[in-house]
Amino acid sequence: MTYTPQNILITGGAGFIGANFCHYWHDAHIDHRLIVLDALTYAGNHANLQGLESSPRFRFVHGNILDQELVEGLLREEKIDTIVHFAAESHVDRSIHSPDGFLETNILGTHTLLKAARGVWLDEQQHNADNCLFHHVSTDEVYGTLAPDDPPFHETTPYAPNSPYAASKASSDHFVRAYAETYGLPITISNCSNNYGPYQFPEKLIPLIIANILDGKPLPVYGDGKQIRDWLYVDDHNRAIDLIIHQGRRDEAYNIGGNNEWQNIDIVLKVCDLLDGIFSKAGEQMSKRFPNAPQVHGEKAATLITYVKDRLGHDRRYAIDATKINGELNFSPAETFESGITKTVQWYLDQEPWWRAIMDGSYQEWIDTNY
Ligand code: NAD
Ligand code: DAU
Repeated sequence: MTYTPQNILITGGAGFIGANFCHYWHDAHIDHRLIVLDALTYAGNHANLQGLESSPRFRFVHGNILDQELVEGLLREEKIDTIVHFAAESHVDRSIHSPDGFLETNILGTHTLLKAARGVWLDEQQHNADNCLFHHVSTDEVYGTLAPDDPPFHETTPYAPNSPYAASKASSDHFVRAYAETYGLPITISNCSNNYGPYQFPEKLIPLIIANILDGKPLPVYGDGKQIRDWLYVDDHNRAIDLIIHQGRRDEAYNIGGNNEWQNIDIVLKVCDLLDGIFSKAGEQMSKRFPNAPQVHGEKAATLITYVKDRLGHDRRYAIDATKINGELNFSPAETFESGITKTVQWYLDQEPWWRAIMDGSYQEWIDTNY
């Protein structure tokens, strides 16, 4: 294959996975130029890109993927040959409360990017179909839910999304495929399981549990806590996307997973155990930093577990059959869950100001006054 990415547009690069991807790609491919397009919604955080801003190979653009003129201008000006599309409304609970924004960004926003790529790359002939690529980052939630003994999701599993979030991602996947089939836009799609790691917004299960333990707040477990998710360390997801971009077959979708299924309650207990262990070895300083943590008062973190009302339409189990990416691209996760979750807990301990600023709203205030 002659295709070599050179100038990459990363949408949603200030969010959790997008920011990790920017750091990963900047280090892994030292002759590539990265352009981030991000609207800096509540989930986007400029600070996640610290360290990259000074690089001559990096540019941050504050803007919306719904702005077709802006996107087309960037594709032309920066001679973009590769779009890696992360930007999305990503939180299932928010989609249940207010679905509209999910349709706007996830469906219309993806369609705007597709129109811009088709227009500039193919119609204006900035590229031919062999030397450009639209990679769409999607989710395993498009497949719906599994019973305990069902086989894991395969690329051929019929789509059956259950939440407004999942429905909007399923719709965006279909539009991406349709643009390949109808207009010949070169595309790849990845459908990944639950990611964890640095920079994850503390509304998601793992960072929420870490922050709440440190502040001595309840650990909300939805329903019976026996729902199952497959967990993958975020940089393993990034490596998988890298392999798909460089070696994946065009117009194909690849499932990505960690082969690492956990019940939610066991994830919560694991994080509790890790923090109990850290407090038991730590000195005075941890107690001073986190005076409300239960360990400071001689209690275990698990005493904070609180079962709450279940999520509406809560998917019971996700699991990934990653045979295709394993076999075709030789991908398997590098991180074990033990090493990945230990690193993640340590990252949140080390980066307390990062999540405090988000949780106390000061980050949002900063955005409002600065943009
Ligand atoms: P996130 O919510 O942390 O970040 C989303 C980013 O997109 C933010 O920086 C936000 O500012 C930006 N954004 C939102 N709307 C925008 C718009 N209209 N224009 C420009 N930028 C906009 O999300 P995440 O968890 O990093 O997920 C990234 C992608 O990966 C999403 O497409 C999600 O569906 C997919 N995904 C996530 C997971 C996971 O476990 N987090 C797993 C599989 C797939
Ligand atoms: O599977 C991939 C998906 O993983 C991504 O597409 C989504 O963008 C990402 O948000 C994630 O979705 P989940 O809904 O699985 O992630 P979340 O962290 O919100 O929840 C994980 C599980 O934990 C889920 O079963 C709900 C449960 N949960 C979550 C929260 C926030 C709780 O029990 N308590 C909580 O407070």
